[in-house]
Amino acid sequence: MTSALFSPYKINQLALANRIVVAPMCQYSADDGVPSPWHMTHLGMLANSGASLVVVEATGVERRGRITHGCTGIYSDSSEDEFARVIAHCKRIGTAKFGIQLAHAGRKASSARPWEGGVGLKPGQDPWPTIGPSAIAPGAAWPEPRAMDEADMVQVRDAFVDSAKRSLRIGFDMIELHMAHGYLMHSFVSPISNKRNDAYGGSLDGRMKFPLEVLRAVRAVLPQGYPLGARISATDWMDGVLTGDDSVAWVNAMKAEGLDFVCVSSGGVTAEVRTPATPGYNVPIAEQIKRETGIATRAVGLIATAKQAEAIVAEGRADMVALGRAMLEDPHWAWMAAKELGGEVARPNQYLRAAPKMWPGAAYRGTAA
Ligand SMILES: Cc1cc2nc3c(=O)[nH]c(=O)nc-3n(C[C@H](O)[C@H](O)[C@H](O)COP(=O)(O)O)c2cc1C
Repeated sequence: MTSALFSPYKINQLALANRIVVAPMCQYSADDGVPSPWHMTHLGMLANSGASLVVVEATGVERRGRITHGCTGIYSDSSEDEFARVIAHCKRIGTAKFGIQLAHAGRKASSARPWEGGVGLKPGQDPWPTIGPSAIAPGAAWPEPRAMDEADMVQVRDAFVDSAKRSLRIGFDMIELHMAHGYLMHSFVSPISNKRNDAYGGSLDGRMKFPLEVLRAVRAVLPQGYPLGARISATDWMDGVLTGDDSVAWVNAMKAEGLDFVCVSSGGVTAEVRTPATPGYNVPIAEQIKRETGIATRAVGLIATAKQAEAIVAEGRADMVALGRAMLEDPHWAWMAAKELGGEVARPNQYLRAAPKMWPGAAYRGTAA
C-alpha cells in the first residue's frame, strides 16, 4: 500500500519527508519574547513527532506585536540567540524541518494568556497600546486600536524584514507570514476591520496593498529557493465578506510576489462570529484555492485521523495537512498514522525497539538493555 500522506514533497527548494506539518501553536511561555526551557522541551519533542515540518508559534516582529506577555518575539538579540540554541538542539536530536511563523497581532495584541481569560489586558495587567488598519476593536473585551498611519506601516514592514533576517541567521528552514485569525495582516484584508478611505482600504486591491508590501519586502531579503509562505484566513464566515473568490484573488496576488505556499485557515477577525467545528472545516476552501491558484496548499482545522488526512492528500484537495491539537494530544500521531497507512516515519535510534516493523520480533520486549 502506498500512502499519499507519507509521500515526499518539496516547497520551493525545501525537501519534506511527508505531507504532515505541525501547525504553529502559541505556548505563552516566553519572557519578553525570549523562548524558555518550555520551548526547548516542547519543540524538541515535536522534532521527533514524524511530521516533516514543525512551524514555530506566532512570533512577534515587534514587542507591541505579541499577542500576550508570554508570546515569543523576534525583535531582540537575546531572543535570536535563544531561538538559535533551541533550533540547533531540535535539529541535532530530531528529523523534522523547522519553520517560523512571523506575526504582528495588531489590534488583538495586549491580550491575556488563554488560561488567564484570553481577552484584552485590563489596567493593572500591564496592557499596551495597539494598532490596526482602523480604530475598530476585535470585540467588546478589547480596547480600540489606533488607526495606523504610513509611518507605522513602514515601521511594521521593516520589522518583518529584520525578523526574516534574524530567522535566516537562526537556521529556520522556512518562513510563514501570519495573515490569518484577525491579526494585523488579515485585519487589513478583511472589510470588517479595515474601513480606511486611503490607498490601503476600500476595494480588495486596496485592502491587500499593505500585506503585499510586507510580503514583497520580506521576499527581497530571502535567498533564491528559500520557502516563503503565508497562513491566511480564507473566509470570515459571514455572508459576502472575504469569500473563497476573494481569497483566490488574494493568494494569486501573493503568488505573483513570490509566495511559495499557503496554509488555509479561517475566521478570527471578530469575536462575534464563531468558526465552525466540523471535521476538516477548511478543506473545501483549501481545495478551491489549490485548484484555482495552483499554489502549494496546506489545509488545517480539525484534521485528526490518519484516514481523513490520507484522503485529503490522496484526493488532491490539499498538498499538505497541518495538525494542531491532535499533535498536542499525541505527539507521536504520525507514528501511529504510519502504522495504520503503511507509511514509513523516521524514529530516533533510542526508540527503534518500539518500531512496528520489529513486531513480533525477538528484539522487542526481551532483552535486558
Ligand atoms: C494552543 C494553540 C495555539 C495556537 N497558536 C497559533 C499560532 O501561533 N498561530 C496560528 O496561526 N494558529 C495558532 N493556533 C491555531 C492552530 O494552528 C490550528 O490552526 C487550529 O488549532 C486548528 O487546527 P486543529 O484542529 O488541528 O487544532 C493555535 C491553536 C492552539 C490549540
